[in-house]
Amino acid sequence: MKNHPMDRLDKDPEIREKLLPFCRLKNGEIWEDPICGHRIGCLDAASHEDIELLMKGERATLSIQDPPYNLIAFEKRSVQAFIDWCRKWVDTTEQTLADDSALYIWLGADQENGFQPLPEFMMMMREFKSLKSRSFITMRNQRGYGTRHNWMAVRQECLYYAKGIPEFAVQYTEIPKILRGYYKEVNGEKTENLERSKSPNIRPGNVWVDIQQVFYRMEENVNGCYAQKPLKCIERLALASSREEAILLQISLDIQAPL
Ligand SMILES: C[S@@+](CC[C@H](N)C(=O)[O-])C[C@H]1O[C@@H](n2cnc3c(N)ncnc32)[C@H](O)[C@@H]1O
Repeated sequence: MKNHPMDRLDKDPEIREKLLPFCRLKNGEIWEDPICGHRIGCLDAASHEDIELLMKGERATLSIQDPPYNLIAFEKRSVQAFIDWCRKWVDTTEQTLADDSALYIWLGADQENGFQPLPEFMMMMREFKSLKSRSFITMRNQRGYGTRHNWMAVRQECLYYAKGIPEFAVQYTEIPKILRGYYKEVNGEKTENLERSKSPNIRPGNVWVDIQQVFYRMEENVNGCYAQKPLKCIERLALASSREEAILLQISLDIQAPL
């Protein structure tokens, strides 16, 4: 998508009103892709009825959630109100997850404000006994903001929770392994680490610095969507935590990037 001169629609009520009649999906409606079977709904992530409508009784093995972070771009709520709302959509999500499934949640932390809502969110998640914390991923966001009096803020957090024992397929970055010389004897032969490894590239850890953030020249860029996730990171999560035929549930999101 090209970088458009149009302002954000939530900031321009006049254009928003004019565009609304052209929207194909109205509140509560779902579109089903006749070719690939994707279901896209204009729904409330915190509503059990809405999500049941979307899932049609099926259960997901992977869910990637990207809620508003309670930070700059959207209207800020009190931390408590934000967490109460999160508890609702985590509950709808948990109920639609299969017995063995993965849940990823993107979140930010407001460093000017006690790092809210990250710690409160993590504490709230402990109420969900079926969801076990598995990884705390940090992704570098090159569009971070800087000041001469602080470190550059260039991170987004992604929390990985497991329900039961989900799929996990090891992924590799595009960064070649350069460290050599770690020798080990295998079947009586001295082998070097590169000979023993399954890939010439390094594995992503829980700090991702190898994914290009969405910037205006990228195909998936949507003007004004500051929290937009790069397609590459969605792909990495999907490849690691789902099989080809798996059902992926994404709620609380803009649909442009994931599609
Ligand atoms: C961080 S943005 C998602 C960005 C998106 N994943 C991307 O990569 O472009 C959070 C989105 O959640 C949506 N949202 C807010 N409240 C919601 C609700 N109750 N149900 C579903 N979506 C909601 C907002 O409209 C916003 O578009």
